[in-house]
Amino acid sequence: MDFMENKRKSNFTRKIILAASITALFFFMVKRPAAINGSTKFSQHEAGVTHVLVTGGAGYIGSHAVLRLLKDSYRITILDNLSRGNMGAVKVLQGLYPEPGRLQFVYADLGDAEAVDKIFERNAFDAVMHFAAVAYVGESTAEPLRYYHNITSNTLLLVKAMAKHGVKTLIYSSTCATYGEPEKMPITETTPQVPINPYGKAKKMAEDIILDFSKTSNMAVMILRYFNVIGSDPEGRLGEAPRPELREQGRISGACFDAARGIIPGLKIRGTDYKTPDGTCVRDYIDVTDLIDAHVKALAHAKPGKVGIYNVGTGKGSSVKEFVAACKTATGVDIKVDFLSRRPGDYAEVYSDPSKINNELNWTARFTNLEESLSIAWRWQKEHLNGYDN
Ligand SMILES: NC(=O)c1ccc[n+]([C@@H]2O[C@H](COP(=O)([O-])OP(=O)(O)OC[C@H]3O[C@@H](n4cnc5c(N)ncnc54)[C@H](O)[C@@H]3O)[C@@H](O)[C@H]2O)c1
Ligand SMILES: *[C@@H]1O[C@H](CO)[C@@H](O)[C@H](O)[C@H]1NC(C)=O
Ligand SMILES: *[C@@H]1O[C@H](CO)[C@@H](O)[C@H](O)[C@H]1NC(C)=O
Ligand SMILES: *[C@@H]1O[C@H](CO)[C@@H](O)[C@H](O)[C@H]1NC(C)=O
Repeated sequence: MDFMENKRKSNFTRKIILAASITALFFFMVKRPAAINGSTKFSQHEAGVTHVLVTGGAGYIGSHAVLRLLKDSYRITILDNLSRGNMGAVKVLQGLYPEPGRLQFVYADLGDAEAVDKIFERNAFDAVMHFAAVAYVGESTAEPLRYYHNITSNTLLLVKAMAKHGVKTLIYSSTCATYGEPEKMPITETTPQVPINPYGKAKKMAEDIILDFSKTSNMAVMILRYFNVIGSDPEGRLGEAPRPELREQGRISGACFDAARGIIPGLKIRGTDYKTPDGTCVRDYIDVTDLIDAHVKALAHAKPGKVGIYNVGTGKGSSVKEFVAACKTATGVDIKVDFLSRRPGDYAEVYSDPSKINNELNWTARFTNLEESLSIAWRWQKEHLNGYDN
């Protein structure tokens, strides 16, 4: 009797174990492929988690945005074709946030409509930050078609994919170059946009594509017009590392660092007879950490059916001479400076009126000391003589 009871029990146990194993195997088989490409968390919306697609996330500004968004618990997909960005930056970010469902890198060309459509199909995005672009004024004058093509049509494709897949929030990287040479300073958001080079014109066209579409949809749109971006992560994890061939297109901070490192013999200041306090051009330099803070605030304030357009600058201009002095102090190198005559197409003074973003998004620039921003960037440059390939 006891024996029979035991036998029946063990039979029953065996059946349970078998059923459990089959169930486990089934789950294992179903789960496994998803686990391999890591797409489970990325392919489903999750309450309380905002999944942001960051185009150009391997680039200078995009990588800094990803760092901040990850710190703030966003889920991130980077889309970049590494034409200008750095896989090294992506690796740093992956190293900092290796947990599943935090960061995914997708190698793709935004100009490839089919690839972009698939990416939207496989992923559940809540918002898009669109940084990917070609972004050098000088290059745009030499290769206008490259700029018109890659800035406008890529933005168009992206917006189409967002519309098709119901992604309703877009933060767009625009630029003060869309204003051209306004007569009145400071520049407000209502200053007429009359861009004067293909870069500025293409960025304005991309804005128009977004704005016209937004009138026919309930998309939440934030357009941020950046002034001159400088600096890097204060903790030294990321930096600005353009490819060597783009160096000469360069922005002033890169040129200063290259001069300090002896890669170029010195700096050429073009124009000392502008109607400015010291005769050199005046620009509004915004630290990348502040700039990204503006993006996070823009994302938080984005509302369906609403468009927000904001200048992102400090509101204060600095002359080229002041910039070079700050760079000399930051690097500790007495950089050689040559003074030359004006370069055609440069305007005397450009600086923003940031009161709209101050008031509406409660954003203010904090890193407004040039020397400090440049010191931080210089520290990274010194430790990464070959950029991210070190
Ligand atoms: N740096 C500035 O001072 C400044 C000022 C105003 C506006 N902006 C805007 O900010 C954005 C980012 O600029 P950045 O300085 O970080 O430039 P960046 O060149 O460092 O980054 C751009 C990134 O986009 C990627 N990319 C370009 N075309 C692509 C494509 N077709 N498909 C996929 N990826 C592509 C590149 O590989 C790169 O990683 C740009 O839209 C630029 O117009 C920059
Ligand atoms: C990146 O995208 C551009 C189009 O914007 C394309 O011309 C270029 O060849 C791509 N580069 C790579 C490495 O895929
Ligand atoms: C941009 O577009 C042109 C074609 O118009 C292409 O030749 C170029 O490689 C593209 N990509 C980049 C990153 O400039
Ligand atoms: C605005 O930002 C400041 C500084 O971050 C903060 O202390 C303040 O509470 C914010 N005000 C509002 C209205 O959110």
